[in-house]
Amino acid sequence: MQVIHTIDALRAALAGQPERAFVPTMGNLHEGHLSLIRQAKAAVAGQGGLVVASIFVNRLQFAPHEDFDTYPRTLARDAELLEAAGCDIVFAPDEKTLYPEPQGYKVHPPAELADILEGQFRPGFFIGVCTVVAKLFNIVQPSVAVFGKKDYQQLMVIRRMVQQMALPIRIEAGETSRSDQGLALSSRNGYLSAMEKEQALLLSCTLKNLAARWQAGERDLPALEADAMQALRDAGWQPDYITLRRRHDLGAAVEGEPLVALAAAKLGKTRLIDNIEC
Ligand code: PAF
Repeated sequence: MQVIHTIDALRAALAGQPERAFVPTMGNLHEGHLSLIRQAKAAVAGQGGLVVASIFVNRLQFAPHEDFDTYPRTLARDAELLEAAGCDIVFAPDEKTLYPEPQGYKVHPPAELADILEGQFRPGFFIGVCTVVAKLFNIVQPSVAVFGKKDYQQLMVIRRMVQQMALPIRIEAGETSRSDQGLALSSRNGYLSAMEKEQALLLSCTLKNLAARWQAGERDLPALEADAMQALRDAGWQPDYITLRRRHDLGAAVEGEPLVALAAAKLGKTRLIDNIEC
């Protein structure tokens, strides 16, 4: 596996390799990322394709009060994990390489998809995500890219960008990896104390309960969502949202359509997100 830091060196390494499966990350990798790498490998297996992962902590998607400075940078360990998972090339640019000058051109995703849920509580987040992902797509030029369902809204926003911009990239969704107890794996779980890791299980339990009540026929959605918010508050969380939405566009839940329950909440100083399709 090669670890490459510059755009020119990456382009040289990729020259003549038509099939590339791409997994963009911010590093500090866990089993969830590695399962995306294995999925990427399977997507180009048999076509002699390469798996490319990127590691870049993207300042553009962090608000000034968020954890950009403290986000763990663990390149040596990440590279070992990626190699063991079958990755062929790691692209790990520094900030000057990806943003040699302030990034004036940005990708603005549509408000109805990007200013709700995460976008409501992290204004500008999806502009930062789309801008860096579009730039990475231009550099890597993959035929397939794999994004985890853990960041459900991000997956929807990227899918829509690829579709509307007619990018020749197939977006594959990777299932969320969870601990045995059900906690969705996340780089930010590393911020949790041992006791908080136990308490964090409540997020997926509350999502499951919301989904189960809907599936059992309860249809007063505002009341169901208010109960779920209260359950988290009662346990000392500060929830931003917990809601049931239509899967394909995250619009209001409609009976008979595939749905997803999504939540974001702070436990202590750590903000966690999770979702469950139902
Ligand atoms: O999901 C992430 O880790 C990031 O949002 C991504 C897609 C790598 C863009 O910085």
